[in-house]
Amino acid sequence: MRPSRSSRARLAALLTAAAALLLTLGATPAQAADTPLRDLAAAKGKVMGTAVTGSKLTGAYGDIAGREFNALTPGNAMKWGSVEPTRGNFNWAEADQIVAFAEAHGQQVRGHTLVWHSQNPSWLTNGSWTPAELSGLMNDHIATEVGRYKGRLATWDVVNEPFNEDGAYRQTLWYNGLGADYIAQALTAARAADPSAKLYINDYNVEGVNAKSTALYNLVRSLKERGVPIDGVGLQAHLILGQVPSTMQQNIQRFADLGVDVAITELDIRMQLPSDSAKLTQQAADYKAVMNACLAVSRCVGVTVWGFTDSDSWIPSTFPGQGAATPYDENYAPKPAYAAIAESLGGGTTTPPPTDACTATYSVTSQWNTGFTGQVRISCSGAALSSWKVSWAYGAGQQLTQAWNATCTQSGATVTCSNASYNGTVPDGGSVTFGFNGSWSGSNPVPTVTLG
Ligand code: XIL
Repeated sequence: MRPSRSSRARLAALLTAAAALLLTLGATPAQAADTPLRDLAAAKGKVMGTAVTGSKLTGAYGDIAGREFNALTPGNAMKWGSVEPTRGNFNWAEADQIVAFAEAHGQQVRGHTLVWHSQNPSWLTNGSWTPAELSGLMNDHIATEVGRYKGRLATWDVVNEPFNEDGAYRQTLWYNGLGADYIAQALTAARAADPSAKLYINDYNVEGVNAKSTALYNLVRSLKERGVPIDGVGLQAHLILGQVPSTMQQNIQRFADLGVDVAITELDIRMQLPSDSAKLTQQAADYKAVMNACLAVSRCVGVTVWGFTDSDSWIPSTFPGQGAATPYDENYAPKPAYAAIAESLGGGTTTPPPTDACTATYSVTSQWNTGFTGQVRISCSGAALSSWKVSWAYGAGQQLTQAWNATCTQSGATVTCSNASYNGTVPDGGSVTFGFNGSWSGSNPVPTVTLG
């Protein structure tokens, strides 16, 4: 029988005895679900985007695109050659589909791209146009396409790839017909068509400080000085394994200091095929370096990968022998690069260990001249039990006299207790206790308890 309150009060000096902690059943810790990249990015106020192909947005591809990214860029669907393959005949099907998918998934859309030298319809590139005609074509195209999605797109890559590697203007249909002013004209037309969209100039090999990025820098500075609408600079970042420019953060910062946003718009990191674990490890480090360069500058709004899976990457067909450039392999398995992106955004893939289990804790709740009352608590976190058994060995001759809420036996120094019929279940996040009385003399040290 349990001693009465008064007899305990009379005899006891309550010991806030140290608890002995103990061990753990072989319950498998619950696997913490990895937080999607888009949630990690959103917590930092950043974009984590991907380029997509509209026809693939179902099944596993659609699941990942919707789950992991908070922004989409149509890989090809909004290019002039896609939307107006013959003059006056428009095909918006894939572009509309991607915008609808994004809206259904709470994602931004980056419109890509309005004025470029590549992927134009042949009627446009093969025509011969006066400057006035060319300007009219360009402005109408911008008004039509930007106007179609007015208020629904966060961003437009208005002008794409205007520079050569040496920083001279690229000789294109637009430059040759209209001079460098085509850029200001295009930006002005885009602003008129959708005043709420952020307007960007986008280029490649401008990630670090070099002649080309300096030409872009000088252009943006002069556009700002002239009051031409320009909100941001896109650094495409089609990079080569092991070659992230060391001046990337510095370069991003100098654009930010001009008063424009910066986005990494088309990140991929290609390698010579076949890939191997050393290359994939290097690639993860490279992805992390790019992420960190952006995250270090508050005006860097975020990063978009140019396809999230190696099965949807432009690299193998454009750079023969190279590939494996994206964060997921061809079978949609995340690569080390994926984990690196997550880590840079503050996510982790490991489960916090110490609490992810069930433990048993022994304590003495009261003690008097020859007796004591004790308690064992079995607690679970990240695991659960449907029955339990604990045991311990008394080191100073203690003898159990009774127990409640468990069935206990003592043999020599060893006590073994198992659950009663009604308290075998310990849910994840819950606990069960049982109590006992014992006798002691000399000392009453807390024993080590084993669960299981
Ligand atoms: C690429 C697409 O990914 C390919 O599918 C297409 O065949 C060629 O264009 N810079 C850009 C992108 O701005 O539009 C390009 O996209 C890759 C380089």
